[in-house]
Amino acid sequence: MILVTGATGSVGREVVRLLHKDGYRVRALSRHPEKSNFPVGVEMVAGDLLKPESLSAALDGVEKVFWMLPLAADFNFPRIARQSGVRHIVLLSAATAEIGVENAIARLHLNAEQAVRESGTSWTFLRPSGFMTDVFRWKDSIRSEGVVQIPFGDLSIPVIDSRDTAAVAAKALSSDGQEGKVYMLTGPESLTRRQQAAIIGKVLGREIEFESIPDDLARKHLLRHMPAEMVEALFDLSNQGQKFSEVLPTVEEVTGQPPRTFQQWVTDHAEAFL
Ligand SMILES: NC(=O)c1ccc[n+]([C@@H]2O[C@H](COP(=O)([O-])OP(=O)(O)OC[C@H]3O[C@@H](n4cnc5c(N)ncnc54)[C@H](OP(=O)(O)O)[C@@H]3O)[C@@H](O)[C@H]2O)c1
Repeated sequence: MILVTGATGSVGREVVRLLHKDGYRVRALSRHPEKSNFPVGVEMVAGDLLKPESLSAALDGVEKVFWMLPLAADFNFPRIARQSGVRHIVLLSAATAEIGVENAIARLHLNAEQAVRESGTSWTFLRPSGFMTDVFRWKDSIRSEGVVQIPFGDLSIPVIDSRDTAAVAAKALSSDGQEGKVYMLTGPESLTRRQQAAIIGKVLGREIEFESIPDDLARKHLLRHMPAEMVEALFDLSNQGQKFSEVLPTVEEVTGQPPRTFQQWVTDHAEAFL
């Protein structure tokens, strides 16, 4: 049995679909399984990753886990999973882990990786680049005014389609020789936010205006919704962004399929922006 956490999320949902399609026994974890819609044959289980001691039913009989971190992760999960008999954990970490523990976002992922290492299970770490799904945050202003107003407009990143991250995760959960692998994952091209907005406009067939918000204004706005440490971590990541701009061949090497382009992603999700 394979337990997929974050099973209603952009990556986990696709991990469930791929494993189920290939005939694996899959259990999908959500805090609200009654609201979720999984294929017939997928076992659904209620659970909260912030209370890992309450997950014994979810972990019962499980050999492998896809572990995705909520923002305030509880790092006891790998130890509890190991005690319950789990042999292998595939962790959804992040490329930004490379930056080091001084950065609060990188620290979250590095602490999770460390907790997995110390748990005694075998493991595979996925370190994807920025997600294409992040642009869902732009949908309201695109719909209402045809405009994108965000900071870091000229930061270039090889954004990745969650379906490609999920394909690597499914492979890591279902094939041999995945122990101790750290996969840095990217999409097929490095794009600035400005270029992403232009591609959305091209697919929708309408002009999308792009306005880069100055850093001081962005900081003020972000501080209303996020802890100061996380806001500083975001600025730090954008300042060091060039470290993450390289396109890597990992997705194709692991899955045999090239990663999807941003234009493909927008085409497949166009109705969200209409
Ligand atoms: N966005 C990026 O650019 C980026 C880049 C690299 C790595 N990442 C990492 O990717 C992860 C996000 O993945 P995603 O996009 O697939 O997720 P997502 O679409 O944002 O969905 C969030 C998922 O987290 C689950 N969740 C939240 N709190 C939970 C809790 N307390 N207990 C159990 N489940 C909980 C939700 O499940 P329910 O609501 O159904 O319970 C949902 O399935 C994060 O760890 C993030 O750090 C993101």
